[in-house]
Amino acid sequence: MCGIVAYKGHKNCHPILLSGLKRLEYRGYDSAGIACINSNDKLVVTKRKGKVSELKSALSNSEIYNLGIAHTRWATHGKPNQLNAHPHLDQSKKIALVHNGIIENYDPIKKFLLSKKIKFKSETDTEVLVQLIGYFYNNGKMNFEQSVRAALQRVDGAFGIVILNTDYPDMMIAARKGSPLVLGIKENEFFIASDISPIVKYTKDIIYLKDSEMAVINKKSFKIKSVDKDISLPKNIEKIDFKIDDYDKGKYKYFMHKEIHEQINTIPNTINGRIKNESVLLQGLSDYWNIIESAEKIYITACGTSWHAGLIGKNFIERFANIPVHVEYASEFRYNHALIDSKTIVIAISQSGETADTLAAIRKANNHGALTIGICNIAGSSVSRETKCGVYTRCGHEVGVASTKAFTSQIVVLYLLALKLAESRKTISKESLKRHLDYKKSVNKIKSIFKQENDIKKIAKKYKKANDFLYLGRGLNFPVALEGALKLKEISYIHAEGYPAAEMKHGPIALIDKDMPSVFIAPKDKTYEKIISNIQEIKSRKGKIIVITDSKNDKVLKELANDLIVVPKTNHYAFAIFASIVLQLLAYHIALDKNLNVDQPRNLAKSVSVE
Ligand code: AGP
Repeated sequence: MCGIVAYKGHKNCHPILLSGLKRLEYRGYDSAGIACINSNDKLVVTKRKGKVSELKSALSNSEIYNLGIAHTRWATHGKPNQLNAHPHLDQSKKIALVHNGIIENYDPIKKFLLSKKIKFKSETDTEVLVQLIGYFYNNGKMNFEQSVRAALQRVDGAFGIVILNTDYPDMMIAARKGSPLVLGIKENEFFIASDISPIVKYTKDIIYLKDSEMAVINKKSFKIKSVDKDISLPKNIEKIDFKIDDYDKGKYKYFMHKEIHEQINTIPNTINGRIKNESVLLQGLSDYWNIIESAEKIYITACGTSWHAGLIGKNFIERFANIPVHVEYASEFRYNHALIDSKTIVIAISQSGETADTLAAIRKANNHGALTIGICNIAGSSVSRETKCGVYTRCGHEVGVASTKAFTSQIVVLYLLALKLAESRKTISKESLKRHLDYKKSVNKIKSIFKQENDIKKIAKKYKKANDFLYLGRGLNFPVALEGALKLKEISYIHAEGYPAAEMKHGPIALIDKDMPSVFIAPKDKTYEKIISNIQEIKSRKGKIIVITDSKNDKVLKELANDLIVVPKTNHYAFAIFASIVLQLLAYHIALDKNLNVDQPRNLAKSVSVE
């Protein structure tokens, strides 16, 4: 999704804005642009279709600017081209604006502005907003701040914006509703961005703007104000705890590869400090635990990979704590007739904490009086702020568009939550709980999965030309299959579908031929025999079989599978994580072999902050 960086201070803003845009590249974009105010109080705007590197080459270095706004655009309204790239200007060319989000009522506003003889240059909803601000500023006897407020009060939809005005060369205004914006503060320097990644290297003091808040930065001071009224609001400055390392690829070619390998550390990090005296501790839920433990019904809502983790969470919670769990895509939950009330718990899962559909689902649940719990990776994100309580996944910044380490940490949090519920509701014996919490041996075994990376590479080479894949698993491993298929689709552009293994006979089997590989996730558990039958069904139709199992020296599997990956034997639950890591590596190596940009797959955005 689009990214915003803005700077006001005493330094030359081009390098700060460009390195900020580079940091935001992981979000996905198709064009980029910068607007600065020069020493003659004129706007200097440069925009390019394509990569930030192209924008960088187009910038002239003949002037130094201390105030500027920059943007990476992911097209929604209007094609991805230079004209539609941000920043956009008003007709007087005094006001420049960058915008994340969508202005839903842009059409009637545009018609109104056209009737006032305002001419448009682009096809974007964003230009409508800046022209409206310009209209109020130039015709309404309003000052800069008033005209921004007047325009924002008339737009529907979502916005995170930063605006400059050449009549106010010391001023920068930012505002948000629905689309995140962060303000970084250093002595006499101000940084604004759509997430903290462009800011962390300069300052740890930040303010997460809340919905309907504006930051009005003037000379060396700033105010937080309301979009709705001309009133000042408290400045809630927080200290962030992010390492710059999270944004470096280190020895890896791609962030995704680094993040897959990081799971050796991120999984223990999610667990650390959360198990004490053979009990689960989830501090973030303690204030609401009496409501949570007596829940009659739980909804889990999320999108994409986080939704797959939700399906695994359902299995854990129903199995251990005997509470019925419904898992719904957030995009459906927000419009469905969900049966939620004050006795319902709604768990929202999100890596970024900014996914628009997940936030809408949370708001709906809050409005119905349900207790909302966030499982989220980004401290201070909208999900963490809008849910009543929550648990952080603590796996560090995830840069690769394809989610990997966040998925396995989400599974771990859901496992701990299910066990804690079971402990409180006395639906698990002390011995069994102790066994489930003795995770250390399983975690140590993650390292050995990576010893098989060369074998996985060979499998990737063999199948990279396939046009379709089937991923099949049962129980807990059905969502693992869904996630494996999603990873392959996202980064290799190979069509893949995940199915419960036994469902395969009810339709997808028609697809099987010698060119179609099926990936089976087949641990030696109570469904093993059934899965063997499913494998045989595919084999007899000449389909290629790749199996991931924990069954060592398994003659039957050796005989049936064209390719076999054996992960260390642990419990049923850790197997789901091990198999997920293997599937991440398989997707990664297939995409790498096809020479694709693994971290920034086409059309995808890291954080989907529009509906
Ligand atoms: C995962 O690989 C995806 N890129 C995507 O499905 C993602 O999981 C989804 O957009 C939800 O994101 P979130 O966890 O940040 O809410």
